Amino acid sequence: MEELQQILDQALAQFSKISDEDHLEQAKARYLGRDGSLTAMLKGLGKLSAEERPKAGARINQVKQAIEAALQERRDALGQAKMAARLAAESLDVTLPGRGMGSGGLHPITRTLKRIEQLFHSLGFATTEGPEIEHDFYNFTALNIPEHHPARAMHDTFYIDPNHVLRTHTSPVQVHYMQENKPPLKIISAGRVYRVDSDATHSPMFHQVEGLWVDEEVSFANLKGVVQDFLQRFFEQDDLEVRFRPSFFPFTEPSAEMDMSWRGGWLEIGGCGMVHPNVLKHVDIDSEKYLGFAFGLGVERLAMLRYGVNDLRQFYESDLRFLKQFN
Ligand code: DAH
Repeated sequence: MEELQQILDQALAQFSKISDEDHLEQAKARYLGRDGSLTAMLKGLGKLSAEERPKAGARINQVKQAIEAALQERRDALGQAKMAARLAAESLDVTLPGRGMGSGGLHPITRTLKRIEQLFHSLGFATTEGPEIEHDFYNFTALNIPEHHPARAMHDTFYIDPNHVLRTHTSPVQVHYMQENKPPLKIISAGRVYRVDSDATHSPMFHQVEGLWVDEEVSFANLKGVVQDFLQRFFEQDDLEVRFRPSFFPFTEPSAEMDMSWRGGWLEIGGCGMVHPNVLKHVDIDSEKYLGFAFGLGVERLAMLRYGVNDLRQFYESDLRFLKQFN
């Protein structure tokens, strides 16, 4: 029994000197571990007589509990000391000046898109959206683009699988919208389009705005008026002129290329025309009763001209020195 008291005294003395949590657990093993001194005594109970055993067992258990309590007490003390040290080291000086969050801003292309949408809204156009991954029916077939057309070729177009492409233009939105809505229709749709193309004036991803107006009496004259009005207001230039050059698009007839006057010359800004009867047929709109015009504008081109940017790739290089100029 004296031995027990010694073990207890030794354990308490040892624990109180330890200032490291790992060492404390190691010290515990010396008493309560598999080869610990107290464990050995418990094992030795078997050798005692039946009379002595209960008393000795109770006494050993008392010591065991006392050691465990001392251990827990020491653990708590070490934990608190550790926390106190950490709090002292991490002290927060609330009198330091704040770091500030900096304010974000809109990307110049986003700004341009918003401006375009606003201007067309004021001309009575609603906005709509279409998917960027298109079935070739929408991107080509419904737009009267024949099987052999170069736009369908792999080298111009990103194919997802034999029937799906990253849309090469926003014109398929016309088809989606006409499938779901009956005329009169007056919409624009702006968004990303994709082509295998990359240089100072082409990016594999770029933006277009599509316009569509279908009604019983819509003329090429309306088209000219809308486009000119839009451009004059977009560039804040009342004398800006628009020129229409005869051209070809499978989904319009007649078709034209649109140019605008710029610094004494002409700049191409998009394509347009009267919606081809075959396109209307694909969406069950009676081409005897309804007709309409459509146009497609390059958004990057408009942004470059408005902001005086000469390399389109700058829009997509995420260089803050460039982007910050627009905010
Ligand atoms: N989708 C054509 C392109 O990306 C542009 C275009 C031309 C759109 C004529 C139209 C249109 O709506 O009528 O090259």
